[in-house]
Amino acid sequence: DGGAPAAGDLAGRLVVVSAGGTREPLDPVRFLGNRSSGRQGVAIAAAAARRGARVVLVAANVDKALLPDAPAIEVREVETTAQLRDAVRAAATRADVVVMAAAVADFRPATSAAHKIKKTAAGPAPIELVKNPDILAELAAERLRPGQVVVGFAAETGDSEGDVLEHGRAKARRKGADLLAVNEVGSAVGFGDVPNSVTVLDAAGEVLASAEGSKAVVADALLDAVADRLRMATT
Ligand code: CTP
Ligand code: CA
Repeated sequence: DGGAPAAGDLAGRLVVVSAGGTREPLDPVRFLGNRSSGRQGVAIAAAAARRGARVVLVAANVDKALLPDAPAIEVREVETTAQLRDAVRAAATRADVVVMAAAVADFRPATSAAHKIKKTAAGPAPIELVKNPDILAELAAERLRPGQVVVGFAAETGDSEGDVLEHGRAKARRKGADLLAVNEVGSAVGFGDVPNSVTVLDAAGEVLASAEGSKAVVADALLDAVADRLRMATT
């Protein structure tokens, strides 16, 4: 594979991309969150627009300076997982492609205090957590629009249970998404502006493609696999 993407190969398509990281409130001034910058999701939105798609970018706590300013990209800003889920699902009913690049909080505090939590003599109360819905798994199971290509992202490290690819394969089979982009993290790869590596798996965990380079290169490699899927569905 490789080479320049076919110009306009996503023309006439609606692509929904989630980016950033969700934040779950503890009280009016505090939250549980994660360090996702949103750069990879923004790069996918920009690449899809370059390839002719209309894009809805659901941005969870992405720095304003990183948000694209292009006529083909509509940005919807959200904070919590519940808000991200609502925004993605609303846009997904008409979408040809949904890419879940956001880092979604797996858990949220069971309650959010209406007033700022005070530091009392009794010491801190434990924070009770409840599970968030798995937005990607829901999208894959429900197929809000027939023929829609559903894409997930997985940042993995190797551990005693298996290497990055083994974890990625298991996740691909578990999630039911059409494509899963597996990213190796925790080494020099995947942080800040250093090159990223990505392996694109299908729902059975088979390797379709891999690429290494900037977030833009990774975005185009993933969209090549998406465009292949769309072509397969329409021919
Ligand atoms: N995801 C989601 N909703 C969640 C959690 C994750 O839609 N509640 C999506 C992410 O946007 C990503 C994919 O699922 O596209 C994989 O996320 P990841 O955190 O790697 O998977 P989990 O199933 O949460 O597994 P774990 O964190 O235990 O590795
Ligand atoms: Ca997770």
